[in-house]
Amino acid sequence: MIVTDSEQRISDICAEWREDGLTVGFVPTMGAFHRGHLSLVETAAVASDRVVVSIFINPTQFGAGEDLDKYPSTLEEDCASAESAGASAVFIPQTDAIYPAGFSTGVAVSGITQGLCGAVRPGHFDGVTTICAVLFGIVRPDLAVFGMKDAQQLAAIRRMVSDLRMGIEIVAAPIVREPDGLAMSSRNRYLSAEEREQSSLISRGLEAALSLFRAGERDCEVLRNAFLMTLKDASVLRAQYVETVDPDTMLRVETIDDRVLLAVAVFAGKTRLIDNILIKSEV
Ligand code: PAF
Repeated sequence: MIVTDSEQRISDICAEWREDGLTVGFVPTMGAFHRGHLSLVETAAVASDRVVVSIFINPTQFGAGEDLDKYPSTLEEDCASAESAGASAVFIPQTDAIYPAGFSTGVAVSGITQGLCGAVRPGHFDGVTTICAVLFGIVRPDLAVFGMKDAQQLAAIRRMVSDLRMGIEIVAAPIVREPDGLAMSSRNRYLSAEEREQSSLISRGLEAALSLFRAGERDCEVLRNAFLMTLKDASVLRAQYVETVDPDTMLRVETIDDRVLLAVAVFAGKTRLIDNILIKSEV
């Protein structure tokens, strides 16, 4: 497996693969891998001939007072596990190479990014869409894989790729969970034992809402309240938002016709965790 910090090198390697008629899958990450990341790489490896993984802690998507300075970095382990999951190359650029002096372009997707995380993390999605546009320009992948845990990110990237005719297939990979239901996240390692234990209530709350829907409930307020009720005795959990939205537009839905995304952000102590569930009829 190739490991490089050189934009030129990764770009040339991808161009050679394409000339040889091979398809290139791409998994952009910020590192600190868990099984969720590896499932993205595995998904890309099934769907394409060669897989490039990028590891870049993108400063422009962190707000003031967020965890940029303490964001975990485990590069050696990440490279080893990326290779065993099927990566052909890992690209680990330096920040000043990605954002050289004079860099002045931003890509912003409006609408989709206004609510949910966008409302409480101003500028976050502009940072995400800009870095993804830059990385897509370097790698020029045929497809890119994103996790469904970051559902709003996924919707924004799909919109950007479609609006800017980038010609990249965006593949969504399911949320990977711990045995007790907690969605895997690089930030789970910040949790104390008590926070970790109570955090399993987040997925339990989402499941409670889904059960109500399956029992015939269609009022989204009832589903949102079912989630909140599940957390009510959890001393170290505090819901930041609990929203029911259309999974493509991220606009609020009050009554379910077809399907709705129940998306939540919850503080476990100081650690902010996000999770969601697609609520729809069983097929
Ligand atoms: O989901 C992430 O890890 C990041 O937001 C991404 C897509 C790698 C952009 O920095």
